Amino acid sequence: MEDKKIIFSGVQASGFLTLGNYIGALRNWAKLQDDYNCLFCVVDQHSITVRQKPADLRKNAMDILKLYIASGIDPHKNILFFQSHVPQHVELAWVLNCNTYMGELQRMTQFKDKASRHSDNINAGLFTYPVLMAADILLYQTDVVPVGNDQKQHLELTRDIAQRFNNIYGDVFKVPEPYIGSVGARVMSLQDPTKKMSKSDSNPNGYIAMLDDPDTIVRKIKRAVTDSESEVAYREGKDGINNLLNIYSAVADKTIDEAVAEFSGKGYGDFKVAVAEAVVECLRPVQQKFNELSKDKGYIESIYKEGAARAERMAARTLRKVYKKIGFIER
Ligand code: TYM
Repeated sequence: MEDKKIIFSGVQASGFLTLGNYIGALRNWAKLQDDYNCLFCVVDQHSITVRQKPADLRKNAMDILKLYIASGIDPHKNILFFQSHVPQHVELAWVLNCNTYMGELQRMTQFKDKASRHSDNINAGLFTYPVLMAADILLYQTDVVPVGNDQKQHLELTRDIAQRFNNIYGDVFKVPEPYIGSVGARVMSLQDPTKKMSKSDSNPNGYIAMLDDPDTIVRKIKRAVTDSESEVAYREGKDGINNLLNIYSAVADKTIDEAVAEFSGKGYGDFKVAVAEAVVECLRPVQQKFNELSKDKGYIESIYKEGAARAERMAARTLRKVYKKIGFIER
């Protein structure tokens, strides 16, 4: 690989991807691929912290890999792979588990949120989930981690674990920086714009799936919750409109000011139609590419097999160093 800074990021395979994942993550990744050496992982091992049906997990994981490529992430420039294909992730996670405090994990808001939503299955994996995420990142001596705003806390923990480990054992890990895009870092639910858009929303009108057809997208945006005023403006108290403006500015590549100016004097109805059209047009080429890729299993297989082999070579180097520093006997 050329001598560029390293990026690592990933998406869980627990369900389909939403417009939030696209705007907050995938789209940014595609923009970064020329300037960095990038590893983009489908983090299937993270997914099983919530019970998954095996057939669904298999399909979702494969769809996500295809969506990476369909979003413009070049599989030859970047390393694309499944987390479960590179055993060093869980191996390093064990070591990091022994260097992470219960108190740190108890403070994680995603844990608290998921534990309350899955109170019948608060498993140990759900609790130590952020440690596996730290292992994902630290294994590759990652410089930069592009994520949406909701992952900021996990990134801070990753940095704390890396610094702690380095203080004890000498410089082993690069301490990574988060990269949070300025636009669209937090796409909110269309039905409750105070909550983030999430695939686990029980109301499908709250999210747009990356593979929703145009009619569905238009219908969902038309139903989006707004407010009792009529002015398309970006300000406090207008959560629904702010969210639609954010979405519009992200998919139409305009600033918020440009978007507001464009709709001055227009009503919410016209505005929603324009947002819906912009989202449809933005996702159309991605969906087309996804459908083409779905016809070529052999090609996809060659991508993730090569990706895992390349990732494993990098991961093994870091893990070997970690084991040596800790005092494990070399094999
Ligand atoms: P996950 O799978 O929930 O989401 C994947 C990426 O999408 C972003 N995202 C959003 N951005 C804006 N608005 C939204 N509504 C929205 N919803 C999701 C997330 O911030 C994320 O960047 N723990 C991670 C997966 C992970 C990971 C990693 C990420 C595991 N290991 C190592 C980076 C590096 C997660 O659950 O993301």
